[in-house]
Amino acid sequence: MTGSPGAVLTVDLDAIAGNWQIIRSRLAAGCRAAAVVKADAYGLGALPISRALQRLGCTRFFVATLDEGVALRPSVPEAEIIVLNGVEPHTIATFRQHRLIPMLNSLPQIAAWGDAGPCALHVDTGMSRLGIPPAEACHLTPPPGLLLVSSHLACADEPDEPMNRAQLKDFAAIRLRFPGIEASLAASSGIFLGPDWHADWVRPGAALYGLNPTRGQPNPMAQVVKLEAKILQIREIDQGRTVGYGATHRAGDKSRLATVAVGYADGIMRCLSNRGHGYVGDTRVPLVGRVSMDLTVFDVSGVPSSDLALGASIELIGHATTVDDLAETAGTIGYEILTSLGPRLHRRYLPGPAQ
Ligand SMILES: Cc1ncc(COP(=O)(O)O)c(C=O)c1O
Repeated sequence: MTGSPGAVLTVDLDAIAGNWQIIRSRLAAGCRAAAVVKADAYGLGALPISRALQRLGCTRFFVATLDEGVALRPSVPEAEIIVLNGVEPHTIATFRQHRLIPMLNSLPQIAAWGDAGPCALHVDTGMSRLGIPPAEACHLTPPPGLLLVSSHLACADEPDEPMNRAQLKDFAAIRLRFPGIEASLAASSGIFLGPDWHADWVRPGAALYGLNPTRGQPNPMAQVVKLEAKILQIREIDQGRTVGYGATHRAGDKSRLATVAVGYADGIMRCLSNRGHGYVGDTRVPLVGRVSMDLTVFDVSGVPSSDLALGASIELIGHATTVDDLAETAGTIGYEILTSLGPRLHRRYLPGPAQ
């Protein structure tokens, strides 16, 4: 980094630590929490976040891919790392070398892994994505080294959806095949369905990063990220002038515009064109024209000139706009917003516990 980042993503490790504690306070007696840090902890930085969570006593992490597990290993040398996407015969040696635990998702994976070490098992109870179908799971003998049997809820963010209890019931029946083996069903939203869904381990990701696990209800989690983009240029345009590709915004009046150093290459999706907004201090500023690859334009006519000094920034995610808010404007979910935040954003970490 040259010292002049165009846009800064601030990740508050202390807020993540607070969210970890909120989750733990909700858990049924005896239930433990693992942290889901796949996709680089949803784009926020798996290594610093895992280290911070480890300091709070997190001993188990979930990643999606083998590469993610290998990259994480040196940061949490003692922890268990479970690789959700499973194992292939030619990757077994790498799993063993880095002491990674595969989530076995199929009978061929169980056969391939054999007695190569600790493993987890994923049974499908309704996602039809990965995992052993219930009919097969009911005839399974526990593989050697099995330390966790798990499944994943399809509709946990809809508490009234009957599928939640149906999956719980099917999972309970499958668990009978694995006496003495720990079990895990709930991710972020599943935790808030209540203790019936908690089993022995919960696997939150999104809630740790501040997304609302209780859709439609007030968010019990603290906001974790702030995204600020530096103003590169300010200009006045006359009524009738247009802004950006396709000339999709035409100034209805003489206007003052600020062009900031963030675009769709950074995860500010093009569908936010003429729909998004930012903040300069407490003044809301509409996003005008199309978002382009590296640049986005805001109408700052309502902002006092004193707030627009050289080097000032526009806040796109922060005190007034949550990730979930931005997602709603973009017609997507907070998960997609977070994981789209690009590598060009300078990630700055506010210190977490005991740092
Ligand atoms: C199998 C599995 N467990 C846990 C999680 C974490 O989910 P969430 O981010 O909703 O907590 C995911 C995320 O997609 C997942 O695929």
